[in-house]
Amino acid sequence: MNGDNSIQVLQHRLAAAGQSHLLQFWDELSAAEQQDLYVELNAMDFEELGHAFQKAMMGGSHLPKEENMDDKMEPVPQEVLGSTTRDQVHLPAWEEEGLRQISQSKVAVLLLAGGQGTRLGVSYPKGMYDVGLPSHKTLFQIQAERILKLQQLAEKRHGLKCVIPWYIMTSGRTMELTKEFFQKHKYFGLKKENVVFFQQGMLPAMDFDGKILLEEKGKVSMAPDGNGGLYRALGAHHIVEDMEQRGIGSIHVYCVDNILVKVADPSFIGFCIQKGADCGAKVVEKTNPTEPVGVVCQVGGLYKVVEYSEISLATAQKRSHDGRLLFNAGNIANHYFTMDFLKNIVSIHEPQLQHHIAQKKIPYIDVATGKLLKPDKPNGIKMEKFVFDIFQFAKNFVVYEVLREDEFSPLKNADSHNGKDNPTTARHSLMSLHHRWVLNSGGHFVDENKTRLPAIPCLKDASDVPIQCEISPLVSYGGEGLEEFVKDKEFHAPLIIDRSGVHEWVKNGV
Ligand code: UD1
Repeated sequence: MNGDNSIQVLQHRLAAAGQSHLLQFWDELSAAEQQDLYVELNAMDFEELGHAFQKAMMGGSHLPKEENMDDKMEPVPQEVLGSTTRDQVHLPAWEEEGLRQISQSKVAVLLLAGGQGTRLGVSYPKGMYDVGLPSHKTLFQIQAERILKLQQLAEKRHGLKCVIPWYIMTSGRTMELTKEFFQKHKYFGLKKENVVFFQQGMLPAMDFDGKILLEEKGKVSMAPDGNGGLYRALGAHHIVEDMEQRGIGSIHVYCVDNILVKVADPSFIGFCIQKGADCGAKVVEKTNPTEPVGVVCQVGGLYKVVEYSEISLATAQKRSHDGRLLFNAGNIANHYFTMDFLKNIVSIHEPQLQHHIAQKKIPYIDVATGKLLKPDKPNGIKMEKFVFDIFQFAKNFVVYEVLREDEFSPLKNADSHNGKDNPTTARHSLMSLHHRWVLNSGGHFVDENKTRLPAIPCLKDASDVPIQCEISPLVSYGGEGLEEFVKDKEFHAPLIIDRSGVHEWVKNGV
């Protein structure tokens, strides 16, 4: 164990920070537990934590919503908006630009995968989740295969061998399992050196007075520091240098849970580049005021995402003259950064980012009795930075609107959760997209009597089963290249198209 001297130094630091209670049970701990607690506490910068706490509490994200920023919110101006539907004429040029950048190995993707998947209720990283597709591919595998396919498409178009490096941010809670999973699956065909894992930081949970909570007598209650912990982690683990050495110019950042995510989407990247943007966000039109997505907007002239937890219902329900929601730029957590912008954030602006506060019910050791208490109402806070809080520093910010049914179906909840954003909806969204790809490429589905099924299946609600169709990302990234498999052919569902060919399976319960 450490000498008396070092524990005394720690005691003094804790006393100065008003956190002496953290050593309350020191004498009851084994030598190993003492060592662990010492290491954990010694690494903490209590002064910085105290400042962050004060700043975040004063910042007001925990105050009643009406007192927040609602009055200052303004919708995204038309001139920064691009759209896959309204700007169809520009799409080929944007895609071409994106593919050109990819072919020159100038594009990287960065996955935010440090969350704890609390709502989904699994004990392993969300990317390892199998939503029950016929192939049983996990979210990680689907994303890896999209990267592989895109590399091939760019290589084919431009005749250059290229790499899209994949940076994966994990947390203390997800790192080991994620790495093991990738090793076990041989990086899903990607080269190991092009898949770079790095770990975000953790922060202690505190009570409303800023006192750090203990989860066990010898263990602080810690949680990942939010997906905006990205910027500190990029600096701490020299990821920015790695990107620079590889000659990266554009970075596509996205969240792990969206089964439809177009990883390194060439048209999004091409759009941002052609607009000369340093920072961009992909959105879908928010149509339901209470949908749990943040909205991209301006607050006091600066770009921001106002989270669903931070907006009042009255503001969320406001409509513009055409009847659409006034704040309808629903954030789908797909962001574009140039290398220069990201470098500036990491080296200059990161310390300016304020933590958001989430009030939580946090189990804790009562220092008076030593008992573990499980509160039934919020007793403390967790502090998190958000990935989009850097939009305010953009000099040329753009917004790219895509169709929800093509690009956004997040996995947030377990199937028991009243039909929204769960494994079933994720699986159905992917199969419905692939069904449309087959139809668009000239294929048809027929029933057992060989009667053609209507192109638009009449699903009564989200729990209705769509035509079952799964196309491997290794065959098609975004619906391209399918004619050779499906044109003028008739299929019975379930239909699977993978690298070994076209399969019509008779299988129940898919
Ligand atoms: C997020 C967005 C929200 C958007 C919605 C769309 C943020 C802060 N909010 O909300 O605006 O409308 O997605 O689906 O981005 N993560 C980490 N480290 C952490 C916490 C989270 O890497 O400490 C990752 C998760 O693994 C996940 C992503 O960040 O990939 C989003 O986290 P989650 O908590 O699910 O965000 P939402 O509340 O759904």
